[in-house]
Amino acid sequence: MTADPRLLTAVPAADDAQYEAGLRPRSLDDYIGQDRVRDNLQVSIAAARGRSEALDHVLLYGPPGLGKTTLAYVIGNEMGVPVRATAGPVIERPGDLAAMLTNLQEHEVLFIDEIHRLAPAIEEILYPAMEDYELDIVIGQGPSARSVKVPLQKFTLIGATTRAGLLTSPLRARFGIVHRLDFYADHDIEEIVRRSARILGVAIDAEASRDIARRSRGTPRIANRLLRRVRDFAQVRADGTINAEVARGAMQLLEVDDNGFDEVDRKLLRTIIEKFSGGPVGVNSLAAAISEEKDAIEDIYEPFLIQAGFLDRTPRGRVATARAYEYFGLAVPGRDSRLW
Ligand code: ADE
Repeated sequence: MTADPRLLTAVPAADDAQYEAGLRPRSLDDYIGQDRVRDNLQVSIAAARGRSEALDHVLLYGPPGLGKTTLAYVIGNEMGVPVRATAGPVIERPGDLAAMLTNLQEHEVLFIDEIHRLAPAIEEILYPAMEDYELDIVIGQGPSARSVKVPLQKFTLIGATTRAGLLTSPLRARFGIVHRLDFYADHDIEEIVRRSARILGVAIDAEASRDIARRSRGTPRIANRLLRRVRDFAQVRADGTINAEVARGAMQLLEVDDNGFDEVDRKLLRTIIEKFSGGPVGVNSLAAAISEEKDAIEDIYEPFLIQAGFLDRTPRGRVATARAYEYFGLAVPGRDSRLW
């Protein structure tokens, strides 16, 4: 039997949304980690409020599960305005976006998740909207076509993407505030676990919080999901409180490994080592070899493996590091062989 493959993925699972809504911090003060981003946003927000202006447009990018959507709602809350949320792939017609923009009240936030997936014709509507707070609407066709400008309220666009590199440069250039979210330090995840346990009303000790944090890939969404599974285990197999023994028992049952690796991580590293002699291997070949989408490798798996020091990205392709060989108990080429 293998562990639930969804458990350790940072991509939202169907039942995450209802839990995340309750666990989400609502203010910058409640927001744990990402200190540099938080401090900068605090200054930008206080300044905009002080001048009674709309906050400049904000682009948040980074791997999934790190709190881009959460931050968008925190920003709305700190600005004292509602957040209207949508996503790049959901907007099918230019008129859909035009309707959302014209409905915005002064200083309100429009949040567009996966903004890199906007269709080009829709993206173009955003340029004058962001820059001059106006819509350029073309009426009619052919020689009698004319362009009408419709003024908009001064609003804030918050865009979120896992891939800032896929944004066109005209769009990217229109964001005044750009922040990259990084994987969280273990001690921040630990604090998030303790906070979430408090909200869920379950007792947890320091060692257990540390244990869960260590296996969460620096990702709050995964930490909160693991916590919910461990809470189930504590309730059914123990007295409901989470101590180190309970946490370890739950992790063992869930087959969550010490590094928070899942099946795909292991397959990816093993394939580089065994099929491609440790690399370098191009991402397309790797994707074909492990039957995963190239985008999933680049957006979800690779960033964490690189950060954790198991994978290197070189100009010639991906390379398994010494740590990856050690993880599988294999001799490290060019190092351990010298021992002979
Ligand atoms: N829950 C999810 N992300 C969080 C964060 N960054 N701070 C506090 N609680 C969280």
